[in-house]
Amino acid sequence: MRALTIAAGVAALVGVALLVTVLLPMGDSSLYEPSPELKPLNELQERGRQIYIREGCWYCHTQQVRNLSMDVRYYGRVSEPGEYAYLSPVLLGTERTGPDLARVGGVYSDDWHLAHFINPRYTVPRSIMPSFSYLSQEELEALIAYVQSLGGAEAERRAEMQRRMKRAMLEAQRLGKEEEMMQAMVPASYRSLENPLAGSAEAVLLGRKLFAENCSGCHGSGGGGDGPAAKYLAPKPANFTSAEFMSTASDGRLYYSILRGVPGTAMHPFGAKLTEREVWSIIAYLRTLEE
Ligand code: HEC
Ligand code: HEC
Repeated sequence: MRALTIAAGVAALVGVALLVTVLLPMGDSSLYEPSPELKPLNELQERGRQIYIREGCWYCHTQQVRNLSMDVRYYGRVSEPGEYAYLSPVLLGTERTGPDLARVGGVYSDDWHLAHFINPRYTVPRSIMPSFSYLSQEELEALIAYVQSLGGAEAERRAEMQRRMKRAMLEAQRLGKEEEMMQAMVPASYRSLENPLAGSAEAVLLGRKLFAENCSGCHGSGGGGDGPAAKYLAPKPANFTSAEFMSTASDGRLYYSILRGVPGTAMHPFGAKLTEREVWSIIAYLRTLEE
């Protein structure tokens, strides 16, 4: 009799658990509806997704922003079921050796991803992500298209803006108007800023170290714009040994570019990574490079 009561109790518990966690949600159609901003992947993006699966990117990367303040701060809006509507298998992932990628689309330019896939150390010098330089040009393009699609329509708009800016930058360079365009992008309140650490030997030393750690993969160990990643990039990284460039670039403009990045180029924002003092220290160092 006692055994029977226990068995009935267990069955009731399991039943309630099943009802609450499986059966009731099954009836909630909002879990199946695609998010309004979601588009099915195009052919190139889908091919990139297959490469993502084949290469085991999901061993190290999740694609889910959890309902935790830490996640929301770093990665944005919490992921919803409808954002996975067209995908099978879903690539939620379980292990975050690298950052979550659910909303990474358009955060970086295509160029940045290319350099990063060829060798992650070019863009993030202490990265432990493996190099994917053995992929063909065409596979890399597909993988970039896929990564740039992560985060739905919002991400695609960002990625499209990056591509538009890239075309505009290259066109401005061709016409010799890059300088004008860059100046126009920097708000007046920044343009007139002066380096509070100018000429400080201590700042130059710190700047040199930070530059080697964060910038040399693209800008070159001597700041000549000739780092190992440079050959994959258009526009090319700035050359800080050029007197012509350094004389036209005000402290405020350099500061703004490092803080906010230059949209459409591989120059990504460092505002979240470096403190104000560190950025000014790097600029103090850059001013010593002119040849
Ligand atoms: C062994 C683990 C590992 C594997 C495998 C791996 N990554 Fe990474 N990935 C990382 C780490 C660590 C970082 C952070 C440092 C960096 O940016 O390189 C990272 C960063 C990234 C970033 C930049 C994210 C951001 O927000 O800054 C992207 C995009 C990315 N990986 C895509 C991929 C893709 C696509 C693949 C498969 C082709 C892949 N990763 C495979 C570990 C890995
Ligand atoms: C992934 C490659 C990459 C990395 C890493 C990188 N840069 Fe750049 N950087 C570029 C490219 C490409 C440009 C050219 C953008 C353009 O045409 O205006 C650029 C331009 C610049 C400019 C000039 C912007 C202007 O106003 O004309 C500054 C200043 C700069 N980078 C500083 C840095 C510093 C400091 C770091 C490290 C903290 C760094 N960059 C890391 C690629 C990179």
